[in-house]
Amino acid sequence: MSQPIPPMVSGALPVLGHALEFRSDRTALVRRGFEEHGKIFGIKLANQNVAILVGPEYHRTFFMETDKALGIQEPYSFLRSMFGEVLFLAPHEVYLEQRAVVLEAFRREKMLHYADVMQEVVQAWLDGLGDSGEMELVSEFVRLVQEVAGHCFLGREAHQQLGREFWDLYTDLAEGLDPLLPPNLPLPKFRRRDRAKAKMQGILEPIILERRQHPERYDDFLQDLINKRYPDGRLAEQDLIVNMLLGLMFAGHETTVGQAAWTIILLLQNPDYLRLVQEEIQQVAPDGVHIDPKRMTQLEHIAWAVREVERMRPSVDMLMRTVKEDLPVGDYVVPQGWLAQVTQDVAHNLPVLFEDPDTFDPLRYAPGRAEDKQDRFALIGFGGGIHKCIGMNFANMEMTVITALLFRQFDLELVTRHPQVERGLGASRPDKAVVRYRRRNP
Ligand code: HEM
Repeated sequence: MSQPIPPMVSGALPVLGHALEFRSDRTALVRRGFEEHGKIFGIKLANQNVAILVGPEYHRTFFMETDKALGIQEPYSFLRSMFGEVLFLAPHEVYLEQRAVVLEAFRREKMLHYADVMQEVVQAWLDGLGDSGEMELVSEFVRLVQEVAGHCFLGREAHQQLGREFWDLYTDLAEGLDPLLPPNLPLPKFRRRDRAKAKMQGILEPIILERRQHPERYDDFLQDLINKRYPDGRLAEQDLIVNMLLGLMFAGHETTVGQAAWTIILLLQNPDYLRLVQEEIQQVAPDGVHIDPKRMTQLEHIAWAVREVERMRPSVDMLMRTVKEDLPVGDYVVPQGWLAQVTQDVAHNLPVLFEDPDTFDPLRYAPGRAEDKQDRFALIGFGGGIHKCIGMNFANMEMTVITALLFRQFDLELVTRHPQVERGLGASRPDKAVVRYRRRNP
């Protein structure tokens, strides 16, 4: 190796390195490294070295080298205990086959259908709120996003048949997420995870069997998974269907909950911009008007607010890869055996790309400014390259529908004035956000 390895951030403890600081505030640690060394530097998590890459030029290397010099499977291997070998957890050839199947779920006609379903489900939720009251956004959205996913991917009938029990089991499964501990430790949360998974399989099995016998009765994503024939002619095994379905719901659940909640919170904290959003709703899709595809694209102030939330409050605040062969990056080489990491929380706040980055300013995406278009790897809340989020348009549309329908029917006020970012083992989200609401035309 002729080039040097990335310089280490100060403050590493003997044995533990930066592990404690990473656990307590990983963003602050990366910010400090950036101030000390610039765009490439290293941290040490116990005996694991991690190269942190900041900024679009190095994000490009990170995303374009994935599945080449960088591996995606190892950092996510803890997900295998929940979903088996699906998508990027499967061998590369199998991944490509499965990805093609999943992409079909998001083709244009399907998206048009989901837009209608989303409006129905969100309206049903709003109808159930009564004329006034208080609600905690995160817990409301946990259920709402489940309802949307259930109705879109399983179909209304199957979703109703599954009932709330399914989502209670889903919660047990999701709470088994732990990137740090060995997944087979005899801990209560891992036992609950395995029990929930087995029960969900038991619930879905007869549904899948019935659908295999009467495929003509259904036209939804679950049916696409069931009907799909792989290049060698075989149908997907039941286990794979269940794992793909659960994996997809998992990838899209907490992530959407967090960013949807922040969209409402940041709009309420920025009344001037909220006024623009409300005027737009009045012009494009006033109360009672269905949001058809044309209207959806005209809700651009909402779309910019949703993008600003992706920048300022990304649900996925960092991504990791394993370095499988020495990787030259800038003036350094990241040695094989290290991890590589990109950190949305820090990279989305670079003042060279985003003017006054701490300010909520969705107009930065308007024509003429288009700060996000300077580089395709500037904004990476949905990742980049081959593994870029498959559900991005779905999630953005869902957040647009929630925002438009909520603000056109209700006046809202933040009771929790300053919700904080809660960074758990999975996606980030607001810790608690109570809002007071009043229906405009009771
Ligand atoms: C605001 C909501 C969402 C955010 C912030 C988000 C974020 C991300 C990110 C950052 C990645 C890249 C991971 C990596 O490179 O390591 C990703 C991948 C993925 N996301 Fe999302 N996601 C969201 C919603 C969804 C939804 C709604 C779905 C599906 C229903 C979904 C399904 C997936 C899948 C399947 C992948 C893996 C793609 C692949 O490896 O080819 N996501 N997501």
